[in-house]
Formats: sequence, C-alpha cells, structure tokens
Amino acid sequence: MTYPPPATAPADSGDELVSQFAADVRRHLSKQPRQLPSRYLYDALGSSLFDAICELPWYRVTRAEMRLLVRFAPRIWSAVLPLDRLIELGAGDGRKLAAFLSGRPTGLAPQRVDLVDISASALESAARAASAVDRTRVVQHHATYESGLQAASGEAPRGRALVLFLGSNIGNFDPSAADALLGDFAQSLRPGDALLLGADLVKPEGELLLAYDDPLGVTAAFNLNLLVRLNRELGADIDPAGFEHRAVWNERRSRVEMHLVSRREQELRIPGAGIALTLKAGETIWTESSYKYRPEQIRGVVERAGFTAAAQWQDARAGFALTLCELRRPH
Ligand SMILES: C[S@@+](CC[C@H](N)C(=O)[O-])C[C@H]1O[C@@H](n2cnc3c(N)ncnc32)[C@H](O)[C@@H]1O
Repeated sequence: MTYPPPATAPADSGDELVSQFAADVRRHLSKQPRQLPSRYLYDALGSSLFDAICELPWYRVTRAEMRLLVRFAPRIWSAVLPLDRLIELGAGDGRKLAAFLSGRPTGLAPQRVDLVDISASALESAARAASAVDRTRVVQHHATYESGLQAASGEAPRGRALVLFLGSNIGNFDPSAADALLGDFAQSLRPGDALLLGADLVKPEGELLLAYDDPLGVTAAFNLNLLVRLNRELGADIDPAGFEHRAVWNERRSRVEMHLVSRREQELRIPGAGIALTLKAGETIWTESSYKYRPEQIRGVVERAGFTAAAQWQDARAGFALTLCELRRPH
C-alpha cells in the first residue's frame, strides 16, 4: 500500500536530508531482506547513545584509537605539516579531533578545520571540541561524507589537506561500497593530500558480539531508537517493544550485522515515506554492518582508490589499526 508523500517536512532537520530519509526508508524497507541505512541511527538521541557505547567496557574501538592517536600524533603531524586544512568526516563528539589537535607541535595549526557529519547534534559537539583547543576557523558541513568532503575540499587553490576518517566508519560500507567511497574521496582531494583511516580489525567472535550486544542494553537502545526516529520524523506509530535487538557475526563476510527482529506479525505504517508493510514474526530489519578488516586489506582498499599507505600503526590489545595515506599523482 502507498500513501502520498507528506506536504511538509519536520522542522528539526534540513528539508533535503528529510526527503532523502523518506526516500531511503521507502526503498530499503521494500528490499528483501528488509534494511535501513545505518547513517540514520544518528539523530540527536542516537548520537548520545553512540557516545555512551564508547564508554562501555565491551566497546574497545574508541579507547584503542585514542591510544594510537595520542601516541602517534607527533609522527602524523610531522608527516603532514604544513597543513592548510584538517577535515574530519563523521566526527561524532569531536573528542578524537581535540586529542589529535592537542598533539600538534606548538605554534603550528591548520588554517581551517572542516567538520562533516550527518548528525546535527554530533556536528555541534565536534565544533565545540575543535574550537576549545584551537583558534583555527571551524567550518561545519551537515552532509554525507561524500558531499561534505567535496564542499570542504573546495574549488579555490589551497595547500595540503589531511582527512580524518576515524571510528571504523569505513566498516559500515560493504567492500564494493568502500572502494567507491574511497574513490569518491580521491576525486574530491588533490595529489599530496593525506588521509588518516581508523579501522577495527578481525577478532574473536565473543569479543565482537559483546561490543555490539552489551549486557547493559545500550547498543540495543541505539538500534531501537531508529524506530523512534521513524515515528517522530515520518509519522509512523511503531511500538519499539515489538522488536528486539540482535547482533550476528557473519564470519564469511567478516562483518557484525545489527538487526531489529519483529517479535510478532505486525503492520508498519510509515506515512512520511508513503509505505505500509507487514512484518512476519521473526522477520528482521538489517540496520548496520560493521566490517572487520585485516591490516593488509586496509592497505588494499586505500591503494585501489589511488592512495599510498605510508604508515600503519596497530593497537594489539584491542585489535585496531590507524593507516596514514597520501593521494598519489595520476600517472
Ligand atoms: C561510528 S560514529 C564515529 C564517530 C567518531 N568518528 C568516533 O570515532 O568516535 C559515526 C559518525 O559518523 C556520522 N555518520 C554516519 N554515517 C554518515 C554518513 N554517511 N555521512 C556523514 N556522516 C555520517 C554519524 O552521525 C556519527 O557521528
């Protein structure tokens, strides 16, 4: 069944992002298996719940990456300075950016810090964190990674840019989408620009499942909040208690999948997306993939996109890698 699209968009997000949300919900929920893109997990509550996940003892990505950033900041800065522009894609609360900026050599700073995030609340936190440590001009882009980077990289002549893509954000893209995404980054950047890529590594299944299905239920709330967002922004009336959170390690594909499992047969009516559908008991909506890498696979994906992997540092305790890359000149 279809409904006409809504006449007006809710006031709390940009019109364009809201209509994209409605179109994506309509398209992805109509697929088999049913899906919702993971970027929509990050409304204001979702971003706060993600920050809480980073504090959980079972989610070790954030602490591991922070250790690497603090330890290797001097080496990274000396490889990229002088720097015209520091760009972070999916900055979240900005704590890593602040730690990285704090590790720069005294008196040296990029001219500009550009922040890109699809979550307006994350963008505000990151901008506060960036301006607290630096007098550098901070520019915000409420946008997807690709369009935000294009705007941040700019048309005008400029010096070198360093792009931070941390938190294993790359892991949310399947292998062909990750190739396309990094290829897109390469198109927006200029030869000599640098990319610092943080990626979570393959580790034992038990550790991975605890990271995505924690005993406190914070990750479950993060996942279920997507239903609350559908209610608020697209006029649905979904009972979140009618679903349960499930995390699955798909070893063959090297990814943790998050799903929302329908506890009973139920009808979902989402007027803002113009759809209504019936879910069977046990049917799932796939909301996120988090691909886990081997160090050489990370080097492969950046090299295929036209970057040279100049250095790679690993946190053996938590299984995480930071890779510093430089965009090559085309032959
Ligand atoms: C996993 S969190 C990581 C946050 C931070 N980089 C960290 O390492 O803690 C992903 C961040 O990227 C943003 N995000 C997710 N998908 C996005 C997309 N396609 N375009 C722009 N931002 C996105 C989210 O709003 C969130 O702030």
